[in-house]
Amino acid sequence: MPRPYVLLSAAVSLDGFLDDTGPERLLLSGPADFDRVDEVRASSDAILVGAGTLRTDNPRLLVNSAERRAARVAGGRPEYPLKVTVSGSGELDPRAQFWHTGGEKVVYTTDEGARRASTLLGGIVGVDVVPTGPGLDWRVLLEHLHDVRGVRRLMVEGGGKVHTQLVREQLADELQLAVAPLFVGQQDAPRLFGPGAYPPGRMRLVETRPVGDVVLVRYVPTAPGTGPLASASDRRWLELACELAELCPPSKTAFSVGAVVVAADGTELARGHSREGGDPVVHAEEAALAKIDPADPRLAAATVYSSLEPCAHRASRPAPCARLILDAGVRRVVTAWREPDTFVTDADGNGLLAAAGAEVVVLPEYADRAEAPNLHLPAR
Ligand SMILES: NC(=O)c1ccc[n+]([C@@H]2O[C@H](COP(=O)([O-])OP(=O)(O)OC[C@H]3O[C@@H](n4cnc5c(N)ncnc54)[C@H](OP(=O)(O)O)[C@@H]3O)[C@@H](O)[C@H]2O)c1
Repeated sequence: MPRPYVLLSAAVSLDGFLDDTGPERLLLSGPADFDRVDEVRASSDAILVGAGTLRTDNPRLLVNSAERRAARVAGGRPEYPLKVTVSGSGELDPRAQFWHTGGEKVVYTTDEGARRASTLLGGIVGVDVVPTGPGLDWRVLLEHLHDVRGVRRLMVEGGGKVHTQLVREQLADELQLAVAPLFVGQQDAPRLFGPGAYPPGRMRLVETRPVGDVVLVRYVPTAPGTGPLASASDRRWLELACELAELCPPSKTAFSVGAVVVAADGTELARGHSREGGDPVVHAEEAALAKIDPADPRLAAATVYSSLEPCAHRASRPAPCARLILDAGVRRVVTAWREPDTFVTDADGNGLLAAAGAEVVVLPEYADRAEAPNLHLPAR
């Protein structure tokens, strides 16, 4: 299901803390970085913080710059981003500044928490309380924000429990950290990330920038998801496959497709696209797999991303791509566009893969992008 782009934002001390244990909020960023955060807020449709941060910091979470608010309105957006919080208990102080400043607010909570939150917040205008089930379900929350509130870009401003879950559940598309030049040094102070299992491998660095005396670092995830659920990095890799499809030499008799093979730790093993290297019939998955040593032990836990469902029937070569993927030992495929009947009737590469025990994840929200380089082909 489509969901918003999820951007985690935090300021962190050199020893990895979000705050100290004192009663006042510890200011980790300087003025230039607070202004940068204001800009990121202004570019977002919604800002989310956990109930813990509401209790500790009593934040207002506004766009402070009048110019940025005016630009939002001129662009047809609400003056302020939607404010979102999550709470299991529903124990939310109705006097908090969060409720009485800015635009609309939503609380995502449990069935039980919703009863308590509705009682406490019932008298406040513009507050929606949404239960996601017996427990807080982050996927339900993100889909609801996307589908019901129209949120396409969600900025998450902590705290540590919220950030930790979104990274561990592979739902964060980007991590923006402002590293502040000071130490906290208190064992009980809140950490940016708690202990537990995280996605394997290394994230990809996309930017570093000094902002006053702090350094902004931006990382994006790389490790593919596991099983049937799509992770944030699955979406990123599938976008890359769709971009590769744009590189294909045009053809009136074959699809333009891009493919990437990625190891479980997020290492790109190979990429390919249709008709690459002057081969008029090579397919994207075939081209990518041909670049990997068949004995590479990483293939067994790798994911193949293909903009179009891997082919199930093929005249130009002995084996279709679905078979090549299975023979390579890969057991997870993420794809966007189901093969239309343009050249083969009832092609069902996804079915062939699934019947052989592979996990096939289809993200139809990328189908238009996958189809874009193929719009010249005969009507289907
Ligand atoms: N430096 C920074 O950039 C920054 C930014 C934000 C916050 N902070 C600091 O972070 C600290 C607060 O962080 P925190 O980790 O204690 O709290 P938090 O992450 O802000 O919020 C945790 C609360 O959110 C609710 N929650 C989160 N996940 C849930 C789930 N899966 N199910 C049910 N409820 C869930 C629970 O609320 P209930 O208790 O209501 O059930 C939980 O207690 C503060 O010290 C604050 O100053 C720093």
